[in-house]
Amino acid sequence: MPAFRAPRGTRDILPAERRVFAHVEGVASDLADRYGYRPIDVPLFEQSAVFERGVGAVTDIVEKELFRVSPSRGEERERWALRPEATAGIVRAYVEHGLRTWAQPVRFSLLGPMFRYDRPQAGRYRQFWQWDAEAIGDPGPGVDAELVELGLRFYRDCGLPDVGVKLNTIGDTACRPAYVADLAGYYRGHLSKLPTLERRRLETNPLRLLDSKEPAMVELNRDAPILWDRLCDPCAAHFAGVRTHLEALGIDYQLAPEIVRGLDYYTRTTFEFYRPGAEGQQDALGGGGRYDGLVELLGGQPTPAIGWALGLDRVVNALLEIGTDVEGEPAPVVVVVGADPEDTASRLRIATAARDAGLASRADLTHRRLGKQLEGAARDGAHFAAIVGDELAAGQILLRDLPAGTQRSVAVGDLVKELARADRTHRHG
Ligand code: HAM
Repeated sequence: MPAFRAPRGTRDILPAERRVFAHVEGVASDLADRYGYRPIDVPLFEQSAVFERGVGAVTDIVEKELFRVSPSRGEERERWALRPEATAGIVRAYVEHGLRTWAQPVRFSLLGPMFRYDRPQAGRYRQFWQWDAEAIGDPGPGVDAELVELGLRFYRDCGLPDVGVKLNTIGDTACRPAYVADLAGYYRGHLSKLPTLERRRLETNPLRLLDSKEPAMVELNRDAPILWDRLCDPCAAHFAGVRTHLEALGIDYQLAPEIVRGLDYYTRTTFEFYRPGAEGQQDALGGGGRYDGLVELLGGQPTPAIGWALGLDRVVNALLEIGTDVEGEPAPVVVVVGADPEDTASRLRIATAARDAGLASRADLTHRRLGKQLEGAARDGAHFAAIVGDELAAGQILLRDLPAGTQRSVAVGDLVKELARADRTHRHG
């Protein structure tokens, strides 16, 4: 047993898996550039009030998942929390920097770790990564469809072509309260059938009961009142607009009244991305929605906005599960080895010169015998071994083509040029 382990709910991402992450992050930043979502970073921690806004509905994230941090000295009175998501921090930054003076909407993209003090389980971590995109300052509905389409394209480009989207609307402050009151009344009429957690949620956030996976609730929810029938005219028009735009893009979506989301700030459009066959709430690959009231709640002017966050750990897990071929470790073009086991300086100097020229190269810095060094070079998958020997005094070095098993003498001054030419021929045939 090692003395120390990564904290529960976190994990080390070792090089092979990190490469899959890098692939997925690369797809994300290319798409962000192509769609005009501009890169932003916000702190990994904020005053917890940025996340706990006390807007009525109590959510899991605020209720129990906030990862609080207390500084060991100074600023004791500040209450900090690690960010459970990026949206609140980005909106805080939008207000703080007066970005409403920029051309609207302002589109942002952020890739980074988030923290939730949740019970760890498969695909649910205490530190996880998201790609977050936000469009602040556009009332929609076109931008709602743009974001849904962007999410689906991301999954496709990563190598998950079958991801689907579930779409809902949760109305706004004009039509939601009356509906929530009716919904709560409906559940109260069946109080004896409600499991404990659902009974508690009925008091704090009745909408979340629609999303419950408890068998008793599945049946109850079949007959629960649906908001779609009671939307106010502007919300109904918005929802119809989102659907028209999705249809114009040829996007298949599933209407799903249970997509009410686990954060407090949503208005109107909500959606989640799923892999077919993995459609439980725990399995969402990503999700988001409109949050037309959040900018104001964080001290700004009333500003419509929408965004989503895609869980990168879940995408990477899915890619590893289906055995997607992501480019492996790049092999070095050359490993510099030497006949004199002690002369590591010459090997390092030559490898560094090759690196100056942009070639992937290593120096064998061990004191092993030459034979062992050559074995190591082959194991690294190197195309060439440059062998430093007595000829170095005469300005020569042996260049061995490892796969071909041939070797020739090259002037040290020409080595890098030779390698670059051979590497080009090798790669481009
Ligand atoms: P969320 O639904 O809480 O939304 O998270 C989005 C995605 O992050 C989830 O669908 C899931 O893939 C991933 N995720 C969440 N929690 C975990 C976890 N503990 N472990 C692994 N993956 C996780 C938001 O975060 C909103 N900020 C989305 C948004 C942006 N809405 C508007 N703008």
